[in-house]
Amino acid sequence: MSTIITHPNSILRQKAVELRLEEIPKIQELIYDMQETMSEKDGIGLAANQIGILKRIVVIADKEGPLILINPEIIEKSWLKNIMEEGCLSVPGVFGTVKRHKKITVAAINSRGETLKLKAEGMLARVIQHEIDHLDGILFIDKVIKYTEGEPPKST
Ligand code: CO
Repeated sequence: MSTIITHPNSILRQKAVELRLEEIPKIQELIYDMQETMSEKDGIGLAANQIGILKRIVVIADKEGPLILINPEIIEKSWLKNIMEEGCLSVPGVFGTVKRHKKITVAAINSRGETLKLKAEGMLARVIQHEIDHLDGILFIDKVIKYTEGEPPKST
């Protein structure tokens, strides 16, 4: 398990680099560690930056099981956006509403090195956008429309 880096650590502001296909067999342990770290903190998404690794890897706790996205890229996005509350494991105790694309299509590589294309909407689309922002050094607090209090959403 790893320690989650929190704002304002400058690592969270750096852009993560793409992985080469031949690196994927060597990051299995890291992927496992990210999943463990995420579930320990009851999160639903985690980007490698959040544990201090500047590589483009995201893990998501999807309702259909764990989703690993390596070098994820949004290749299509809906014109429509929606506003929902978000939280982030790297910004503990802070919640706020953020506007994001309602539907997206993502291209990525999975943990077996296979190319995948995924259509996502609802919470999953939101979490993927939040995590890709992490890979680019962007935090949700950069995009908050309104800070919120009360029952917090699961953090990513
Ligand atoms: Co986050």
